Amino acid sequence: MTITGTEAYKAMLAHHRELGEELGRRADAVSGAVAAGRPHGTAAADLIAYLAGEVLPHAAAEEKTVYPAAAAHDGLAGMVGEMLAEHVTLSVLGARLSALTDGAAAAEQAQQIAGLFTVHAAKENEILLPALLTGKSVDLAALLDCMHDDAGHAGTPAPAGESQADDPQATVLSLLLQSAAALARAGDADRACRIAASAWAALRETRPVRFDGKIVACPVYQREKLDVGLTLRGPAILDQFDCTTVICAGQVARVDEWKNLIVTEEK
Ligand SMILES: [Fe+2]
Ligand SMILES: [Fe+2]
Repeated sequence: MTITGTEAYKAMLAHHRELGEELGRRADAVSGAVAAGRPHGTAAADLIAYLAGEVLPHAAAEEKTVYPAAAAHDGLAGMVGEMLAEHVTLSVLGARLSALTDGAAAAEQAQQIAGLFTVHAAKENEILLPALLTGKSVDLAALLDCMHDDAGHAGTPAPAGESQADDPQATVLSLLLQSAAALARAGDADRACRIAASAWAALRETRPVRFDGKIVACPVYQREKLDVGLTLRGPAILDQFDCTTVICAGQVARVDEWKNLIVTEEK
C-alpha cells in the first residue's frame, strides 16, 4: 500500500507520541515507587528495557534514513548534529540510571530521560520533518518504509510480568536480557553489554555497615559480576570468594580493561 508524504508525517508523529507516553509512564512509575518508599529497581529496569528495546532502535533507524536526508537540507545540518548528540545522551542516561542506587537520584534521572525525549521529538515533529515534507526533494513515505525495515520488529519488551512478580530479581534480569538483545539488534552490541553489565551489577543486596561510627545501608556487589568499564561510587562493599573490598564514601571504583579494580578519591 502506498501512502502520501502527509500520511507518513502523521504516522511519524503518532509513533513519537507513543514513545513519549510510554517513556513518561515508566518514568512516573520510578518516581511513584520512590515517593511511596518502595524499591525502584524493577520500574527503572522497565524504563531501561523500553529505552533499549524501542527508543534507541528508532533513533538508530532515523540516523540511517531521516537524518541524512535532513542534513542535506539547507540550514538543517547543525540541528541534525544536535539531534545525533541527543540520541547518544539518551543512551548514556539510560546506562547511568541502571547504576543508580539512590531512589531520589534514580527518579530524577528517569524524569530527565522522559523529558529529553519529549523535547527531542518535538524538534523532529515541528522543524525537521515539516522541512522534509515541504522540501519536496525527499520522499517521506519512502523514508518511513526504510525506517520500518531498519528498526525491525523487536516488539515491546514485556512489562514487569505478573508471573515473575514474586521474584523481582528474575523480572529485572529478564528485562535486562531483553534490553541487551534489543540494543544488540540495533547494531550496538557494545553498549548493550555495558548497560546490561552495569544494571546486572546493581542487582545486589544492601547490608548494614558501620562507617565512622555511623551505620548505613551499604550496597553489596558481587566482584565477579562487575564488567569492564563499570564505575561505582562509595560507600559500597565488593564481595568475592577470597576477599572483601570496602569502597568508602568519596571514593570511586572503576573496573579497567584488564578487570583490575582501580579505586581513586572522587574529585
Ligand atoms: Fe530522534
Ligand atoms: Fe524520532
